[in-house]
Amino acid sequence: MHCWTGLRPYCRADVPLREHTWYRLGGPARWFLTPLDEDQLLEIPLLCRDAGLPWRVLGSGANVLVRDAGFDGAVISLRQGKFTSFDEHGGLIHAGGGSDLTKLVKFASDAGLGGLECLAGIPATVGGAVRMNAGGKYGSISQFIVDVTLMDESGAIESRLPHELGFAYRSSYLAGKIVIAATLRTEPDDPQRTRARFKSIWNEKHATQPPLSERTAGCIFKNPPGHSAGRLLDQAGLKGRRVGGAEISPRHANFIVAHREATAADILALIDLATERVWSQFGIRLETEVDVW
Ligand code: EPU
Repeated sequence: MHCWTGLRPYCRADVPLREHTWYRLGGPARWFLTPLDEDQLLEIPLLCRDAGLPWRVLGSGANVLVRDAGFDGAVISLRQGKFTSFDEHGGLIHAGGGSDLTKLVKFASDAGLGGLECLAGIPATVGGAVRMNAGGKYGSISQFIVDVTLMDESGAIESRLPHELGFAYRSSYLAGKIVIAATLRTEPDDPQRTRARFKSIWNEKHATQPPLSERTAGCIFKNPPGHSAGRLLDQAGLKGRRVGGAEISPRHANFIVAHREATAADILALIDLATERVWSQFGIRLETEVDVW
């Protein structure tokens, strides 16, 4: 397949998305676009609109399950060029949407730029983390956001304050927008303290969640209000339950591990089975946290 005229330097056709997700599952994207700067980025939503083609932004692929059929549209990745850098002035960290959250959090913790260490061990790009308000029991990224620069469906770039972005538990109004950059606030702290907190949160995750060497997409379900999805799935006896190459982690029931022979269909069938089981046993409807493409 040929690429669109003008987009050729940063457009590839039929790119297997499994190479770009932590699950390493799923089919190809019709187009895979890797713009280097805002000028290259801003023509993409317009071209897609004219072509009647859906588009999505892919972060680090840590929270996405791509179906085996792939995605018949354009996938935009900001993990190159100017989108990947971050810098700090006076405790404010200005980060590109494609920059690596893990590196940013480690940098802040090492430097005594306090607060962000509560996000230790969350694999993400800054854009993906902001879009889904990533977090854990010690905090979420939205509590540190000063402003977000985004591009909308028409290619317009605007800056938004956090109260305009509808942040809630693992959600925001940013669906369908492109996070170009975000500014995060930190508080001066003793580097020894921030480093120690980072390490203890990292270790806690390591002890209770499947190792990073296993293929997962983090937590599969959101925690229903007042409940823990992991505990409900565990109490429903689902740890170790398999469909094909997909298995509910024996370590933490809210993770589905993809074994070597797994397909995306196996993961989806196991999600359905688990949702059904929790519904019939507890009358609670679990909602997925992973984004299914
Ligand atoms: N639990 C069980 N069985 C299990 C898993 C958990 O009984 O198989 C119990 C635990 O013992 C604990 C409670 O359930 O009493 C809650 O579990 P945990 O502390 O592991 O936290 P979680 O609510 O399952 C949340 C986030 C995680 C984040 C951790 C730690 C969600 C859906 N999950 O998990 O985020 O890593 O807190 O901060 O919000 C993710 O977003 O992908 C993710 C993994």
